Amino acid sequence: MRKSILIANWKMNGSLHSNQALLVRMLAKLRPFRKTIDMAICPPFPYLFQVRDLLGYTGIALGAQNASRARSGAHTGEVSATMLQEMGCRYVLVGHSERRALYHESDDDVATRFRQVLSADMTPVLCVGETLEEREHGQTMAVIERQIQAVIDQSGISGLAGSIVAYEPVWAIGTGRTATPEQVADTHRAIRQFLENCETGSGRSMRLVYGGSVKAANAAALFSSPEVDGGLIGGASLQADEFSNIAAAL
Ligand code: G3H
Repeated sequence: MRKSILIANWKMNGSLHSNQALLVRMLAKLRPFRKTIDMAICPPFPYLFQVRDLLGYTGIALGAQNASRARSGAHTGEVSATMLQEMGCRYVLVGHSERRALYHESDDDVATRFRQVLSADMTPVLCVGETLEEREHGQTMAVIERQIQAVIDQSGISGLAGSIVAYEPVWAIGTGRTATPEQVADTHRAIRQFLENCETGSGRSMRLVYGGSVKAANAAALFSSPEVDGGLIGGASLQADEFSNIAAAL
């Protein structure tokens, strides 16, 4: 039985003041869902300490938005997986499409970051997904399989098995344009089949979440398929009411 999970990706938003106000409201509203679903908040690096303290013993986990591909040393501006683990992070996003597109992280880069997160005893959340052009050319699964295979090549299917995969069609991120519930269910089913072909049982046990313009109004439909184990939420995770209503839809 796979437990549902809802992950808030704040991206590069927030301030000490607004984080405090948002979390106080959000934690009160999320109280009814804490036992039934896993939840995590991924703030920008400088706010990890603040958010960790505010989350306290709520059971809601702390996450980070990326980790360096290097373990330590002369890498100015980078943050290592070990540092994130020390800060109390349980989850780390890797391969978010904004990282792939804007910061040129290759499949191999992403796979190395994934391996660093695993070796620091945290759970990587591997983001995969196709561009609109790739979908229109029928390349959705070829792209996703390539992205997942890069991780398997470095960490093995056993490394992937304990992680979370987030399907995020690039064309649906921050655009207000959502994949249809059928597109989400079909792609999740195909990802599970791919994993199942790699190792029997891995497709069934893997937690697979959807991300891309999820809001309270469309969450129930997007989460309606048993293939979908939760969501990776960007914009709507910056509003307490929206995020808690999404949790209610899971
Ligand atoms: O990490 C979250 C995804 O990029 C989705 O962002 O909900 O603002 O579309 P969004």
